[in-house]
Amino acid sequence: MQLKLDKLNLVLREGLIGIRVIRSFNRTDYESKRFNEANQELTNTAIRVNRIMASMMPLMMLVLNFSTIAIIWFGSIRIDNGNMQVGALMAFLQYAMQILFSLLMVSMMFVMIPRASVSAARINEVLDLTSSIKDPVYVIEQVSSQKGYVEFKDVAFSYPGAEEPALANITFTTKPGEITAIIGGTGSGKTTLVNLIPRFYDVDSGSIQVNGVDIREMSQESLRAKIGIVPQKSVLFTGTISDNIRYGNEAALDEEIKQAAQVAQASEFIDGMKDGYDSMISQGGTNISGGQKQRLSIARALVRKPEIYIFDDSFSALDYKTDARLRDALRKEIINSSVLVVAQRVSNVRDADQIIVLNQGRIVGKGKHQELMENCEVYREIVFSQISEEEIA
Ligand SMILES: Nc1ncnc2c1ncn2[C@@H]1O[C@H](COP(=O)(O)OP(=O)(O)OP(=O)(O)O)[C@@H](O)[C@H]1O
Ligand SMILES: [Mg+2]
Repeated sequence: MQLKLDKLNLVLREGLIGIRVIRSFNRTDYESKRFNEANQELTNTAIRVNRIMASMMPLMMLVLNFSTIAIIWFGSIRIDNGNMQVGALMAFLQYAMQILFSLLMVSMMFVMIPRASVSAARINEVLDLTSSIKDPVYVIEQVSSQKGYVEFKDVAFSYPGAEEPALANITFTTKPGEITAIIGGTGSGKTTLVNLIPRFYDVDSGSIQVNGVDIREMSQESLRAKIGIVPQKSVLFTGTISDNIRYGNEAALDEEIKQAAQVAQASEFIDGMKDGYDSMISQGGTNISGGQKQRLSIARALVRKPEIYIFDDSFSALDYKTDARLRDALRKEIINSSVLVVAQRVSNVRDADQIIVLNQGRIVGKGKHQELMENCEVYREIVFSQISEEEIA
């Protein structure tokens, strides 16, 4: 029964989260049929279980009451013969009742135990899951005063269960004050690559060093304190706009929050809102647009003032003008940090200090725009597919 309930919950949650998609694809009937099926299964099981329970109760009561009759019947004969006291009979009756009631309870337990054990197994599945990313026993403290250096040394990585490696032979270095752009088709491994830096996954071979220390030899906290990441899919939390920006740095002053919003080109739309920085953002940020969400998550990374910025396709939902203004403002912000920008649009990467071209998890080109135009076929293809001939000339 618990398993069926689990299934029903799953269907219901999917239906609630995906309600817009379901409606727009006219799948309401299909979804309600799916819900009905799951619901019917639960109903059937519940009815069966309760039938058994319902027939068991009267049966148990019958046994209970017949035993009472039998005890009194045979007891009274013995009392009649003078072999027994009335008090002894009453005491016996009490004990017998207690034992029989306990048996009744045991039969109830037989119904509850399977339900509880199914639930317990589900809960334990979650509790028993340990993170494969562990802090090292001996944390290596950074000795050098380097800041914002990231180095990939022949890194290979594959997702658990995948046949092909998602990344192989990745080697490059980033320096503070430089922008490193990563460009490549969809599924070429760009997100995977940047997710390795905050150690969301461990590399299979090779190593990643931040300021000369292998990231597996640092504590996760100190590593992530150096990083400001803007994920590909912006995630905001319920709360005000300034709460959301302050998420990047709890100690940020109101001034700093305003400044970060300005650089991220978010101040315009925030000022346009009725409550400004105190405007509420609903669960999942559903009451603001995709581009606005993106700009807020950029501001959240900026307010952190990290050594390493990671922008995973963070400019995709911005129009060209905002995009250009944002990049200009960013340039001034990031003089002491290294920046990794994942991008689809060539216009976003043209002026980067180093462009890394990824194709199927491998680096197929590395250098500045002009160099790559001359000697990287894949890069040229990407450029030609986006810019018209005259623009290149
Ligand atoms: N969590 C995951 N588990 C298994 N495989 C994954 C996972 N995430 C991504 N992949 C696979 O790894 C490859 C690279 O994915 P990745 O997300 O890095 O691509 P991407 O370059 O960021 O693409 P996009 O431009 O669409 O964001 C893809 O082939 C994808 O199928
Ligand atoms: Mg991606």
